[in-house]
Amino acid sequence: MKKTLSLSKVYQFLEPGPVVMVSTSYKNKNDIMTMSWHTMMDFEPPIVGCVISNRNYSFENLMKTNECVINIPTAALAKKVVGCGNTSGRKINKFNQFHLTPKLASKVKAPLIDECYVNLECKVIDKKLGKKYNFFILQVLKAWINPAEKNQKTLHHHGKGVFSISGKKIKLPSKMK
Ligand SMILES: Cc1cc2nc3c(=O)[nH]c(=O)nc-3n(C[C@H](O)[C@H](O)[C@H](O)COP(=O)(O)O)c2cc1C
Repeated sequence: MKKTLSLSKVYQFLEPGPVVMVSTSYKNKNDIMTMSWHTMMDFEPPIVGCVISNRNYSFENLMKTNECVINIPTAALAKKVVGCGNTSGRKINKFNQFHLTPKLASKVKAPLIDECYVNLECKVIDKKLGKKYNFFILQVLKAWINPAEKNQKTLHHHGKGVFSISGKKIKLPSKMK
């Protein structure tokens, strides 16, 4: 069972740049795409910028619905993560293909991916740069975490299919919040 994750803590999960899975839904057809080009833009409410190519089916869904969920997988899901990045929702249902479980979100129609340990329900608040740069600005409306998996290792993409898995955390006297 997941519990509510405070919106003030959302940035802590995205700032280190994990590979995420974006789920969308249009006319009851769900899709998932893998994404590593994202950035935190504000703390609270959490604002996230991301690049979603107009070649992707997810781009069409996002443009039409203005909603998505950013799902953060652990490294244990690596093969499914890459699978969702190598296939298109135009041709297959990725939830079925990769045995992932869609779960009802509370604020958006796009589904949560239950296997992911963090889920961020988002609405598009600015797509002015969507046509030119495929850039969307999202506001996180609701965030979920599975407390049992809080310290799990995340995947980080270095290009061309090379990934690292997050390692040991250290604490330093940083002035950043
Ligand atoms: C590790 C990884 C990271 C990716 N990052 C992005 C990204 O940031 N933006 C993007 O548009 N596509 C990215 N992709 C590619 C999409 O996931 C891919 O084009 C996918 O097939 C789109 O699915 P869709 O057509 O169902 O939307 C990435 C793929 C992988 C494997």
